[in-house]
Amino acid sequence: MFVLYYCSNQVNCVKPLELCIDAVFDEEDMKVSVKVPATTANLGPGFDCMGLALPIYNTITIEETVLPGTGIEINVIADENAADEFSLEHVPMDENSIIYKAVELLYNSIGQTPSELKINIHSQIPVARGLGSSASVIVGGLLAANELLGRPADEAALLSIATEVEGHPDNVTPAIVGGLTLTSSEDDGSIVYRKIDWPEEWSLTVCIPEYELATDISRSVLPKEVPMQDAVYNAQRMGMFIQAVHTKDSALMRLALKDKLHQPYRMKLVPGLEKIIENLKHEENVLGCVLSGAGPSILIVSEKNNLDRIKSIVRETWNDLNVKAEILTLPVEKQGAQIISHDE
Ligand code: HSE
Repeated sequence: MFVLYYCSNQVNCVKPLELCIDAVFDEEDMKVSVKVPATTANLGPGFDCMGLALPIYNTITIEETVLPGTGIEINVIADENAADEFSLEHVPMDENSIIYKAVELLYNSIGQTPSELKINIHSQIPVARGLGSSASVIVGGLLAANELLGRPADEAALLSIATEVEGHPDNVTPAIVGGLTLTSSEDDGSIVYRKIDWPEEWSLTVCIPEYELATDISRSVLPKEVPMQDAVYNAQRMGMFIQAVHTKDSALMRLALKDKLHQPYRMKLVPGLEKIIENLKHEENVLGCVLSGAGPSILIVSEKNNLDRIKSIVRETWNDLNVKAEILTLPVEKQGAQIISHDE
């Protein structure tokens, strides 16, 4: 089956959902695909409130099957270029799947129940590495289902449902809207976000170890309460982070890329992190080395020179611990999830 989307009179539109107001689909085929970027969350001081989209993608396709009684079918298809061929065993393929939960909440919000859906996840984002793979499938499922249903939910509703399923807004928000986002969860469940521009002068290097760390395990080591001075420490650095980004102030960014709310507790779950931070401490071009989301990937923010040296320091440090890694310098993905047409 084949779906055509028309947007501004163009076939195969790849505009972000919020811009794609004229999209239509073939009523008979009822199949929608959404391409969703990876994300890195926290970025040092912004635990659970800051995240940034990266150009690695999962594509989620939802098809309303016409045969009654076929139920919900979820398939995960690893991309042949994906670094992570072992990831599939971690993705539940039934009603316990987070993608199903997200789709179900959307259907329930309009008084319906999902049935007879075939969901395909084409996976490129490594799973359980702190790169937003769960956020991407939640967002992809929601946007595709929303499209199938004729768009009952606006962006605010999608953000709120995605956050409810994920538990925090810092990955799902950039996955939906792209770029670097600041987010807050309001008491009524709504999510407020603002995008800020990442300075072109600074590089983002994502270091992805071969070992996995499930987010629930990584969150289970966090304390229920933190000392007041640690909360103040992060609040101070969060302010400095935003000002550093606005003014492209490298010296300020070097102070800002620190955290006392999650990283110290997670250090023991991420072999090599402490040593990598130590080994990069005296590199002049490195502005900071922080955990990507819940880990175990590490995000290095640096100036653009000497990237090879940074990469080899990380690689050698992990080599000493027999940890293989993929190390990628990536631009910010400015676009969030996009509806695409899909051929199988
Ligand atoms: N802010 C979240 C965390 C991101 O650090 O646990 C992981 O999904």
